[in-house]
Amino acid sequence: MELPPFELERWLDKYESDADLMLAESGVRSLPADRFDLDVDELGYVIPTDGTPEFRTEIAERYDRDTEEVVLTCGTQEADFLTFMSLLSEGDHTVVVSPTYQSLVSVPESVGEVSEVRTEPPEWDLSVDAVAEAMQPETRLVVLTNPSNPTGKYLGPETMQALYDLVDENDAHLLVDEVYRMLAGDPHTPAAALGPRAISTAGVSKSYGLAGARLGWVVADTEIANAVRKWKDYTTISPPIVGNNIARQALGEQENDILKANRTHTKANRKRVAEFLERYDLDWFEPTGVNGFPTIPGGFENGKEFCRSVFEAESVVLAPGDVFGYPNRFRIGFGLHTEELEEGLERIARHIEDNC
Ligand SMILES: Cc1ncc(COP(=O)(O)O)c(C=O)c1O
Repeated sequence: MELPPFELERWLDKYESDADLMLAESGVRSLPADRFDLDVDELGYVIPTDGTPEFRTEIAERYDRDTEEVVLTCGTQEADFLTFMSLLSEGDHTVVVSPTYQSLVSVPESVGEVSEVRTEPPEWDLSVDAVAEAMQPETRLVVLTNPSNPTGKYLGPETMQALYDLVDENDAHLLVDEVYRMLAGDPHTPAAALGPRAISTAGVSKSYGLAGARLGWVVADTEIANAVRKWKDYTTISPPIVGNNIARQALGEQENDILKANRTHTKANRKRVAEFLERYDLDWFEPTGVNGFPTIPGGFENGKEFCRSVFEAESVVLAPGDVFGYPNRFRIGFGLHTEELEEGLERIARHIEDNC
């Protein structure tokens, strides 16, 4: 198994630590630790190591699934990784809807074959027929993020049902990374509630602003969930106990306050970005979540050149569309504090005016 460098993470790692402003972060601004009770008594493993039954039941109920169908993980990234490892073997084929977060392509590609079904602007609609055409007798999995990172496209219940029916007819599975789902004003039914062939992964990093809690989960039928448990013994063994404690409060008594504040915050910031893009005649699809994927301004060869020059001139980090396979775009994250977003947009505006 050979994995390529994770281009987005390498880009952020290179520029983030020296930059004044980070407009490439894909989650909502982080919540302060002191709004949670952090006392976990002893710093041991979470027992049982796939998460306590009470917390897994609370999560299972959100998906209309059973407790044993939920495994808590160290972030959504691990949830996705363990699901791929559990389902795929050499020679298996996966269909991935793009653009997407790189691990959702690179991991299945490192095990078997991948066909990408590209969605396109302005609407980034997914053609279920195109997914059907990409399927092969060896296809075990269809994968997407919903809402999408980086486009912010949120596919509706009809498309998701059609995808479910397609995988069901083909004895395959549907893996939907839903880490941005709770930022939607009115989230649709999650994928895992569609039936046993759908798998949802999610966590508290993005919608809740709790990336440092490193708490995610997989919801899948018992056979797959058991395979995930088996793999997890070889990766992180247990979810982090402090993060587990924080996530339980965030999904419990604090959930309404957190989500209400995060949705209001992202809505207001999205409006600011929309006004900025309109001023400079840049196109985007108005996204659900906290990431948008606009076109780059004229005068720049590609996203990398634009983003590198913004960093060098104005110390602002953006993510180039090149790392998602769409070089004439860039990803902007607008979940950060509003004053920082405004300062970042002002600096980008100055750079565009100086260069175009
Ligand atoms: C679609 C998607 N899945 C997973 C992750 C990683 O999430 P976590 O911090 O929960 O591991 C990201 C991070 O950007 C993401 O965009």
